[in-house]
Amino acid sequence: MKTGIDLISFYSSNYYLDLKTLAAARGADYNKYAIGIGQEKMAIPPPDEDIITMAASAALPILQKIDPKDIELVLFATESGIDQSKAGGLFAHRLLGLPSRCRSVELKEACYSGTAALQMAMAVVQRTGKKALILASDVARYELGSPGEPTQGCGAVAMLVTRDPRILAVDLESGMYTEDVMDFWRPNYRDQALVDGKYSTRVYLNALAETWKQYQELSGRSFADLYRFCYHLPFTRMAEKAHERLAKTSGQEKLSAKALQEQLGDTLHYNRITGNSYAASLYVGLASLLDHATEDLSGKRIGLFSYGSGCAAEFFSGVIQDGYRPHLFAENQRKLLEGRTELTYQQYEDIYNLPFPTDGGKHTFAQYRTGPFRLAGVSEHKRLYEKIL
Ligand code: HMG
Repeated sequence: MKTGIDLISFYSSNYYLDLKTLAAARGADYNKYAIGIGQEKMAIPPPDEDIITMAASAALPILQKIDPKDIELVLFATESGIDQSKAGGLFAHRLLGLPSRCRSVELKEACYSGTAALQMAMAVVQRTGKKALILASDVARYELGSPGEPTQGCGAVAMLVTRDPRILAVDLESGMYTEDVMDFWRPNYRDQALVDGKYSTRVYLNALAETWKQYQELSGRSFADLYRFCYHLPFTRMAEKAHERLAKTSGQEKLSAKALQEQLGDTLHYNRITGNSYAASLYVGLASLLDHATEDLSGKRIGLFSYGSGCAAEFFSGVIQDGYRPHLFAENQRKLLEGRTELTYQQYEDIYNLPFPTDGGKHTFAQYRTGPFRLAGVSEHKRLYEKIL
């Protein structure tokens, strides 16, 4: 029985900082960002946007196409959780009008948790025949002026997981890898990540080699059996390096620029202008591929590499289903990204430095441009969300 992604929808902030502006403020060469790490813009959430509003905004178009009563599982994948106890999916569950007969938990393992959610959801869906909603949502935040700063970003992907999916039937075989390393982490008392940047890229590439080896052994498939490749995207150049490494490991001739562009290029468009969205990031790449490929990808097998610092990783694959195109939300995503507002450097820094109220008082947040949901304020330490459309 086929199981996998039936619908996939991406949402990000309506605001961005152009990395040309950041380069000028940091006295850096813009080409280091545009070419060296392959990023042009980073999405910045305004003060009334958070992982919950982004996740609910990503999910709403999906829920408008199905009967929400069929959803029995909501998995919220994030590493920028807003509460130590309550799962993010519970806030989204109410905003989206999901049925009370539903399981909902939050999953964490850095950027890998979206894939953990997908694998767990598929197991439940296979057993019950019901539907599962995955909400992968994150805000990537590093210290101002740090090497990680130009890789910041934010975004959410919502995925409906069903039997006989309309978008991607996921294959059974997976290569998996776990190792206790300190390449990137965020202690509970900090709101910016700490990272050993160069080391993290080496661990990423090692995890790719390990998971690929297993995937090949289990599936009997080779590099040539995969038509396109989606990688976890901390920044787009990382995926290009990973793909070059995978090709070499698989005994391919050195990839030409044309081959690299063909096998990877369409997966990178959204990330290049929104930045890292951690748990959502791999699936932002998948959405980008589906929305931008000019040819029909029906029947093509896609390789996917998920990496979460710390670290856990997985290489798996899936087959794009016949007739997938009318089920995409490409037009929503195009409108959102083309209609964004550019921030000045000062506005970026002001938003970055705005403290979240922690005094237990009643605070109302100014209204910025958001999707259909916003964080209206906080009172008695409770976040107050509202639907605005
Ligand atoms: P850095 O150390 O400042 O950059 O930051 P660099 O000096 O290594 O330069 C980057 C590249 O730009 C180099 O190319 C330079 O040569 C080139 P490379 O050697 O890598 O091929 N360059 C230029 N190119 C053109 N014109 C120029 C120019 N100048 C330099 N003028 C670093 C890089 C990755 C360390 C930093 O961005 C960082 O710390 N990022 C955060 C960590 C990260 O993203 N790691 C990726 C792997 S771990 C991961 O993916 C997990 C993660 O998503 C978290 C999670 O799992 O939750 C992060």
